Amino acid sequence: MTRPRRNRRTSAIRSMVRENILSPADLILPMFFHEDAEDTPIPSMPGVTRWSLASLVREAGEAHALGIPAVVLFPKIEDSLKTPLAEESFNDNGLVPRAIRALKAAHPTLCLITDVALDPYNSEGHDGIVQRNERGTLEILNDETVDVLCSQALSHARAGADIVAPSDMMDGRVAAIREALDDEDFINVSILSYTAKYASAFYGPFRGALDSAPKDGDKKTYQMDPANTREALRETLLDEAEGADILMVKPAGLYLDVIAKVRETSTLPIAAYQVSGEYLMLKSASASGWLDEKAIVLESLIAIKRAGADMIMTYFAKDVCKWL
Ligand code: PBG
Repeated sequence: MTRPRRNRRTSAIRSMVRENILSPADLILPMFFHEDAEDTPIPSMPGVTRWSLASLVREAGEAHALGIPAVVLFPKIEDSLKTPLAEESFNDNGLVPRAIRALKAAHPTLCLITDVALDPYNSEGHDGIVQRNERGTLEILNDETVDVLCSQALSHARAGADIVAPSDMMDGRVAAIREALDDEDFINVSILSYTAKYASAFYGPFRGALDSAPKDGDKKTYQMDPANTREALRETLLDEAEGADILMVKPAGLYLDVIAKVRETSTLPIAAYQVSGEYLMLKSASASGWLDEKAIVLESLIAIKRAGADMIMTYFAKDVCKWL
């Protein structure tokens, strides 16, 4: 008789027949930081801290020592520096370029990924430049935004970023950023594109962490409709043609079907972002004691790998390295 249970009989056999494995090398740690000298716990994300520059360098080093190959940087920009055209986003001496230089000097083998989008810098809290029409409705200007994103990506590359990650969802930005990087001879700086980034309610805690929520309107004219998958494949083909090195699906846990379809559509490596709201759900559900934190987090992450992701951005990255 055929008995599938024979392959589940002992831990040794299960380890040999296991189809997917989670390792520290799959993980990318998102890190928040600010100009202040104090570290600030983030109320919307229990267990996550917004670091000073000095602490960012120390904490990133700790993560790297645990086996995490990369961090992705999210700055909280002071209100006084936020403007309608987000000029601070490409200041070569801004917070992000200074963080990149400090991190590279301290940890030369740590891969540095930067977020390319205007929301932390723009007084409107949108990922792009905002124009209001006569009726007061918002329009996010695509091509004008892409020009600023290119300047932002260049300022990150000049400071030493390994990978720039446009999270804005403007059309044509991957091709434009690739050309801008190549023109300045940054031929080895990669682009990790947020290919299928949905207009998700699960980003709430992140916007709380950076004080970057849109002042007005929502992000539905640029981020994708959660109802759609074919549209994700259209974005996949475009990003591939425009020269992306890595494609990302975001959020991760509720979009496993999208990860699987993007995996089938492209030969490029695929990243998935377990976002702030997913973190908060897992964290608060296990705080009750009714769910086991380690078990549910590891299960959530192996599910993302099983769906087809090669790498995962997760706020649990350091915990996972300690658990594995
Ligand atoms: C900024 C950006 C956001 C996230 C990553 N980059 C917020 C947004 O698009 O509103 C969300 C990440 C998270 O929720 O963990 N463009």
